[in-house]
This record gives sequence, C-alpha cells and structure tokens, in this order.
Amino acid sequence: MTQSLTIRRPDDLHLHFRDGATMRAVVPWSARQFARAIVMPNLAPPVTTSALAAAYCERIRAAVPAGVTFAPLMTAYLTDSTDADDLVAGFADGVLTAAKLYPAGATTNSASGVTDIASIEPVLERMAAIGMPLCVHGEVTSADIDIFDREAVFIDRILAPLVERLPELKVIFEHVTTSQAVDFVKSAGANVAATVTPQHLHINRNAMLVGGIRPHMYCLPVAKRETHRLALRQAATSGSAKFFLGTDSAPHHRNAKESDCGCAGIFNAPYALESYLQVFEDEGALDRFEGFASEHGARFYGLALNAGSVTLEKAPVAVPAEVDGGEAAIVPFHAGETLSWRLVPSPADA
Ligand code: DOR
Ligand code: ZN
Repeated sequence: MTQSLTIRRPDDLHLHFRDGATMRAVVPWSARQFARAIVMPNLAPPVTTSALAAAYCERIRAAVPAGVTFAPLMTAYLTDSTDADDLVAGFADGVLTAAKLYPAGATTNSASGVTDIASIEPVLERMAAIGMPLCVHGEVTSADIDIFDREAVFIDRILAPLVERLPELKVIFEHVTTSQAVDFVKSAGANVAATVTPQHLHINRNAMLVGGIRPHMYCLPVAKRETHRLALRQAATSGSAKFFLGTDSAPHHRNAKESDCGCAGIFNAPYALESYLQVFEDEGALDRFEGFASEHGARFYGLALNAGSVTLEKAPVAVPAEVDGGEAAIVPFHAGETLSWRLVPSPADA
C-alpha cells in the first residue's frame, strides 16, 4: 500500500510573488499547496502603504486559478518615513497582516529599507500596542561584517535589544540560517518565532560553492556551514511552536541568476511541501510535519486554522529543469532531482 500523509491545509508564512507576468506565472504553484501566504512587499517600487498593499492583493487574487481558494496576506515595507497611522489603519481593516523590516541594502529591493532602527521606534511601539506582527530580515549590512556573520551580528546588535525594549512586539525572525538564530528564538519569549526555508534545511554553503559556483543555490541570508543546517533541521522538526513554514520562495528569471552579479533568491514554490516533507521523513518526524506546516504559524499570527486538507503520497516526482516564469524561465529549487513525496492533486487541479 502506498504510504501517504494527510495534513490540515498548510500556510506559507513568507514568500515573494513579484508582479505582472512573473506573478501570474508563480501564484498557481503556491495556491495549489497552501491556503494562505504572507506576501513580501519588496517590489520595485516597494509596497509601503495600505493602499499599495490593497491594490497588490487584488492583482494577486486575480492570478489565483479558478476554483482554488487561496488568500494572500499582505505586508507593508517599512521605511525611515513609514506613516504609523496608515499602518495601524491597514491592520485594523485587515488589509495588512504584518509589516516587514528590511535593513537598507540587505537584500533584493531593500534600498528603501530602514537605515537606522531608531528611526522607526515610534512605529514599532504602535505595532506592539496593537499586536501587529513584525517580520524581520535579520542581517546587518555593514561592509566590515563578513556575509556569513551578518545574521549572528544582527541578533546581538539589533534584534536582542529590540526584543528587550519592546517585549510585547510579535517578531518573526524570517528565514533563519544559523544555530545562533535558533538559540535566540528558543530562549526568547512566546512573542518571538522564526520561519525556516526548505533550502536552509537541505543545503549548506558547499552546495553553492564546491565544484563550481551554483547561482541557483544562492539566496540571502546565504546558506551557512553544515553545523547550522543541522541545528535548523533539529529546530524545524522538534515540534516547537516557535518554528514554522515560510519558504522565502523568491523567483528570479534564469538570466538574472546566471549573470555577472546574480540575484539572491531560490524559487522553491513548485515543490515546497514535497521538499520539506523529505526533511521531516529523514529526521523521523513525519508526525510533526502538520504542526510545522499548518498550525504553528497560524497560531503565532492569531489566524484561524485552515479547513480542508492536503495529501502527500510516497511516490517519485521529477522536478523539471525549469518552469514558466512569465517573461522568462525560472530554475526551481531541486531542478533535475527526483523527490520522494508527491502532492496528490486536489479535485480543483484535476
Ligand atoms: O534570497 C533572497 N531573495 N532573500 C531575500 O531576503 C529576498 C529575496 C528576493 O526578494 O529575491
Ligand atoms: Zn524573503
């Protein structure tokens, strides 16, 4: 008999959809697996206001295939001059689910991000007061800090003091990549949680650099050494409610990755559940997958758990070398590999 696993319909608590033709090409991949997703606002120009978020939300909804229920949950991009009143109103209206802190210059389209956390302190105080979650890209940007150290230094310089100053603020430490981040999240209060991507559970920095440079393994924060990957696998599969699914799926067209200055980001949306589930199986934690994928994140955000279910069965899935990315092809995570779990299509996909 085929082994299968049925879980409550999951959520992707962190991803990038982009806009236009690319967005229309990638949204269906997420909508076939997830009931909801927390959508990152780093478009060019960024989604900095409630009105921009509402308009972007509509464009995403229009890209969801007929018959599929999928809810984009929107975030606002914080800048040095964010209007706290607009943020509070957006959260109260349900237009915004969270706000995103990009340290200026940390990653893709972060040039308009926050240059000094002190400049948004009043905004963060308001968010703490109303229970609006803060999603954090946790890397410092100082030129003198080595790229492999940027997450750990961010904890010491920015995140730990922030959590100390505002102990009520709900903080999601996004796409954690280090044992220091795991330790920080575990030891912090219940108001601090983390998302974990599939790539940081599967690869270490060797995958990116040994035997040739592999641009499709490059994302930010960059994959670290093996000890960190093992710490992430332990945390994600431990059953702790502080760690949950957020793919950080970040589509960039093949030509933008394979370039003199390749973009950061791994497009993992097409086979995200299959990829995560492989890790849980390898760690002997299949019984903990539902918590990670469908419960911890929703509870942290204060969202109702989803109705309905998805089923994965033990069957080989060949991941294509590339997929349609709207304007140009995109190379997905695990391209050319065969994964061992397969998402059983729902009637709406059939
Ligand atoms: O690798 C990444 N890609 N990390 C991020 O933080 C942003 C993302 C993107 O938007 O491409
Ligand atoms: Zn991201």
